[in-house]
Amino acid sequence: MRAARAGREPARREEWAPWAEAYRGRRELVLDALLDLQTREGHLDEAALRELGRATGRNLSFLRGVASFYPALRFRSPGRHRVQVCRGLGCGMEDDFVRREVAGFLRVRPGQVSRDGLFTWEEVSCLGVCAHAPAMVLDGRIIGKLRPGQARRLLEETRHRERGR
Ligand code: FES
Repeated sequence: MRAARAGREPARREEWAPWAEAYRGRRELVLDALLDLQTREGHLDEAALRELGRATGRNLSFLRGVASFYPALRFRSPGRHRVQVCRGLGCGMEDDFVRREVAGFLRVRPGQVSRDGLFTWEEVSCLGVCAHAPAMVLDGRIIGKLRPGQARRLLEETRHRERGR
């Protein structure tokens, strides 16, 4: 295992070094580089960040700190399923049970990917369907007038289908 990793690391460096070279000494372009990296990879690849750090003279902690400031930048690929939960007044007015169910099921914070890599959870300020509150969106499908337990069941069913593939 260790030997395999050791062999893989130089390959990853070689892969990203030419890309990072374009930013050599250009500290002012760090954010541009991060955006470019995410566009290419869908997330901020660790090996690429290391190479960017070498080229720009910034350490990994600095780069991670910059990236953490922007919600649109992420360190993992998005999950296969996108869950959007409304945190608007209309949806949370009586009880924030939808958010609690999603949080309890996914066990990650908004903006993160579940451990199994299946779900990305996002919070939005309003889904635009307040008359159907409380609401959530699962893979682009708006589900309104949610009842307690329903959000969790939808996620369970989605995970169950994935495991049956
Ligand atoms: S407040 Fe939730 S959809 Fe508008």
